[in-house]
Amino acid sequence: MKSVYVETYGCQMNEYDTEIVKTILAQNSFEIVDDVESASVVLLNTCSVRENAHRRVLQRLSILKELKIRRPTVILGVIGCMAQNLKTELLEEKIGVDVIAGPDSYRNLPDLISKAIGGGKLADVLLSRVETYSDVFPTKDEGANAFIVVMRGCDNVCSFCVVPSTRGRERSRDPEGVVEEAQRLASMGFKQVTLLGQNVNSYCHDDCDFAELVQSVSRVDGIRRIRFTSPHPKDFPKRLVDVVRDNPKVCSHIHLPLQAGNDRILDKMRRTYTQREYCALAQHLRSEIPELALSTDIIVGFPTETEEEFQDTLSVVREVEFDSAFMFKYSERKGTLAERKYPDDVSDEAKTSRITRLVELQRKISFKRNSQCVGRVFDALVEGKAKKPNQIFGRNDANRIVVFPDNGAKPGEFVSVKIHEATPNTLIGKAV
Ligand code: 5AD
Ligand code: SF4
Repeated sequence: MKSVYVETYGCQMNEYDTEIVKTILAQNSFEIVDDVESASVVLLNTCSVRENAHRRVLQRLSILKELKIRRPTVILGVIGCMAQNLKTELLEEKIGVDVIAGPDSYRNLPDLISKAIGGGKLADVLLSRVETYSDVFPTKDEGANAFIVVMRGCDNVCSFCVVPSTRGRERSRDPEGVVEEAQRLASMGFKQVTLLGQNVNSYCHDDCDFAELVQSVSRVDGIRRIRFTSPHPKDFPKRLVDVVRDNPKVCSHIHLPLQAGNDRILDKMRRTYTQREYCALAQHLRSEIPELALSTDIIVGFPTETEEEFQDTLSVVREVEFDSAFMFKYSERKGTLAERKYPDDVSDEAKTSRITRLVELQRKISFKRNSQCVGRVFDALVEGKAKKPNQIFGRNDANRIVVFPDNGAKPGEFVSVKIHEATPNTLIGKAV
């Protein structure tokens, strides 16, 4: 029996895909192991979203090359977004990779690996218009939250983003498969599911839209919380707003990527909304959904962005008051529209200065928003041990991290916690 070890880089979608890969391999007589030293096949499930993700994988590959020198029969595979992005470049002798499989080729992995054991070097990077792995249940057995991928690929053409070229066209999974997966997870004890898609609110299967899919999942007994990520601001239909507001199982948290606050930059990014439209949507969501937490993604230093234009991003952040944000320096990616059209001309010093100021502003806002929670009681879904000794943590409905003294609660249990202190990233309290 061949043993396989899989390491994951990148987003939650990749974490999920690793589970899909494990299921496919286990069904084909591979043993899944947790330790690289005992594996005869080592797979890296990779990410291309920014240069540092890419660099980390290359560094890891150079270490794994030493493993191959010690144990020449080991098969080394690169799968996922970087495999799709770099394709056969990774098969070059100096990198030492034997197998390449893109995100739509995982069903072929057993075959590719068997052929590589026979001495070949193989790549399968065909993108599919239909593959959703709907019939493959991920290998997942414990925790508070489970992800369910409901749609794959992306038909938007955000000019900075590698995803359309690494993950291909949008396709939605059948709702029955999603509900069945939620039922299976509920029977395993999961209390929360997060529905995932690169562009999740574009979900559409026959006449089932995303709002209806969420409603169907919410009818699964045992599932008490539903989250989803990430929606695109271009289409946030009223029906979905109603579902978030009215369905008690759907968490009051929306991740709504802003990317930039200036209209010229938004246009060059091909985001299809303006600053005013974004702010109006954010305000509408906050007024419709009481207690809504809004989080976002922001890129600084997109090609040609001036200091003045960056100030527009700061203005939007001040106006919307996001509860939290992921902030990035622009990173040029191979195969994107921006790479072809716009030189990466904002200096690294300017990018660093902008991100430092942005992070500082957001920290103050997150602290202000978290401070408003002091004195209140929240139900926290426990995730595990906190960094501080004898403390555990969970998340409240709005996705805020809640840290409190260990009262014996296990991951997946709900605990009511009264908050007595806030930091920019956490709420600190005590079980009541
Ligand atoms: N450079 C910097 N950040 C990027 N993101 C996507 N592509 C790039 C890039 N080329 C960020 C976006 C996206 C998040 C997942 O990663 O903000 O929403
Ligand atoms: Fe996920 Fe994008 Fe990275 Fe692919 S490139 S793993 S979709 S973040």
